[in-house]
Amino acid sequence: MSTEVVIHATPALLRASAAARLVTRLVDLQAAGRVPSVVLTGGGTGIGVLASLYQSPARDAVDWRRVELFWGDERFVPAADPQRNEKQARDALLDHVGVDPARVHAMAASDGEFGDDVDAAAAAYTRALTDRGGFDVLMLGLGPEGHVASVFPDSPAVYDTRAVVAVRNCPKPPPTRISLTLPTIRTAAEVWVLTDGESKAGAVAMALGGAGEVALPAAGAVGTARTLWLLDRAAASQLPPGLSRMPIG
Ligand code: 6PG
Repeated sequence: MSTEVVIHATPALLRASAAARLVTRLVDLQAAGRVPSVVLTGGGTGIGVLASLYQSPARDAVDWRRVELFWGDERFVPAADPQRNEKQARDALLDHVGVDPARVHAMAASDGEFGDDVDAAAAAYTRALTDRGGFDVLMLGLGPEGHVASVFPDSPAVYDTRAVVAVRNCPKPPPTRISLTLPTIRTAAEVWVLTDGESKAGAVAMALGGAGEVALPAAGAVGTARTLWLLDRAAASQLPPGLSRMPIG
């Protein structure tokens, strides 16, 4: 497994480049006869990649009916709540490209079939992942303190070995969420951590500098075949010089 860092001049270029990278990966997997599985992320950078992809003519190179879509985490709020990662992803891309509804695997909403039972909703998502192979591409945003998905430093989720967990009292609102755990994130062939801005520079430097995953969950976000850190210059500003596109470890 290799870890690569790719630094982009601006957040907009990061989003456009990551969108192009995703299109290429999906097209290559489909050309090989595969139905690729992709895990989407919430957050401004992750949704921005989807919006950028929708703006790209290359979007139509993907057969969107043959893509399995999952989420790394979800805010446990009503389905129509604008805070929902699913709703933001649909608004940015999914509802405009003809995905197969049967291949869109959203995490339950708080007004869904499990009501306000977030543990039951998390358990149900675990079942949705059962008997699946690992994911082909798993995208993650990064929090300023190093969280990925809804796995926060020294939180119950970072110690949990189950596949999918309920998260309560999340430091980032809204407080109740569903999240993949790090062991599940690590089943992905490729993990892409996408982030921009000065506020993330410390977490980026710690994650790539050898921090442990309990204190810095992003440090545990590695793929079985490849780990990509896709950054803008500001988020990379505390990295040692020259650490770009270099395999690390
Ligand atoms: C969420 C996200 C979360 C997000 C990071 C980065 O549901 O909030 O999954 O993990 O990706 O907090 O968010 P920004 O890209 O907005 O900084």
